Amino acid sequence: MAYFKNIEISNFRNFKEFNLDFSKKCNVFYGSNGCGKTNLLEAISLFSKGRGLRKDKIFNFIKKNEEFFSNDANFIDENVEYELNAFSEVKNNKFQKKNKLNGEISSEVNNKIQSLITFLIYIPENERLFIASPTTRRNLFDHFIFSYSPRYNSLLNVYKKNIIERNIILNNNVTDQNWLEKIEENIAKSGIEIYEQRIKQSDIFEKNLELINEYLAIPFKVNIQINDSFFNSRITLDEYKYTLEKNREIDQIIGGTKTGPHKSDTIFYIDQNYPASQLSTGQQKTLVLLLYFAQCNYLVNYCKKKPILLLDEINSHLDDFNIQLLLKIVEHFEIQVFMTGTKRDLFSFLSTNTNFYNISSK
Ligand SMILES: Nc1ncnc2c1ncn2[C@@H]1O[C@H](COP(=O)(O)OP(=O)(O)O)[C@@H](O)[C@H]1O
Ligand SMILES: [Mg+2]
Repeated sequence: MAYFKNIEISNFRNFKEFNLDFSKKCNVFYGSNGCGKTNLLEAISLFSKGRGLRKDKIFNFIKKNEEFFSNDANFIDENVEYELNAFSEVKNNKFQKKNKLNGEISSEVNNKIQSLITFLIYIPENERLFIASPTTRRNLFDHFIFSYSPRYNSLLNVYKKNIIERNIILNNNVTDQNWLEKIEENIAKSGIEIYEQRIKQSDIFEKNLELINEYLAIPFKVNIQINDSFFNSRITLDEYKYTLEKNREIDQIIGGTKTGPHKSDTIFYIDQNYPASQLSTGQQKTLVLLLYFAQCNYLVNYCKKKPILLLDEINSHLDDFNIQLLLKIVEHFEIQVFMTGTKRDLFSFLSTNTNFYNISSK
């Protein structure tokens, strides 16, 4: 099992100094709006690489009128205890977030932290997954892919960097053809890889949804399709490069790159061809919870990872079936879970292995 034993917060968001010991199974933060529940999940999420649950600016993490934040935690994996530290630092007038493991800081340490901690995060926006903008769906896919493939973030960054670079070149009418060709080749290469990873993630969803049927009768047969005519033409590297070249003029006019995985969408269908967006709000919630269950199944049973679940405001639209489903996610796997909600009794279905924390009374 891998779990956070405790957290010690200092000058982070609305918290001056704040400590908590955790259950290695299930932890619920409850209290009125604005008491700091999401901030706590965010503090936990920052012990690994990146800008955490809300992807906010580092400056915003620091408590108002303070200079830096510094949060500590003890993390246990395979009975070995690690000291984690996440803190802010100013370099060249820019705020950065840094991570330490056992007091050390380096790129190897960052890799070690990434192999040690896997987060699976549910944000309230995910409830509207099937009716929200394509960005929400792309973000969920990217987050899930990242959970088993840490280098996926570098791939996304390479892709984004080259897209930005191409836009700048097109805007400035630069005529260095070789440079532009090189950038477009980088876009095509990384773009195809991103598409491939997203296809793989769709397969993981479909396959693991069938597998978990063994533990809980699933009301839907889910089928996922990439909605992207550019990609669906099974584009090769040369065709991709050719398309970018052909689109230079139009892309210059619209001020962006009109094709590629940053524009792609995914559509979820149930029972062959019924779009998930047509289901009731509660049924959509069921499907979202199923996706998290399926992903946990893949991470735990196939990747041998032990994800930490951060579920923010998970408890709306919980009918009996969704409660059973959430319980399965929490209890079926040997994983640590953190949940938030406004009232304690919203979580009365949880069993004895749960710690409840009233955050308002801190
Ligand atoms: N840098 C900061 N300094 C002080 N307070 C902050 C900072 N960032 C956010 N807050 C405050 O933290 C409070 C709690 O936020 P949040 O954790 O989102 O609440 P909730 O318990 O509803 O999830 C908000 O009132 C917000 O204004
Ligand atoms: Mg909140």
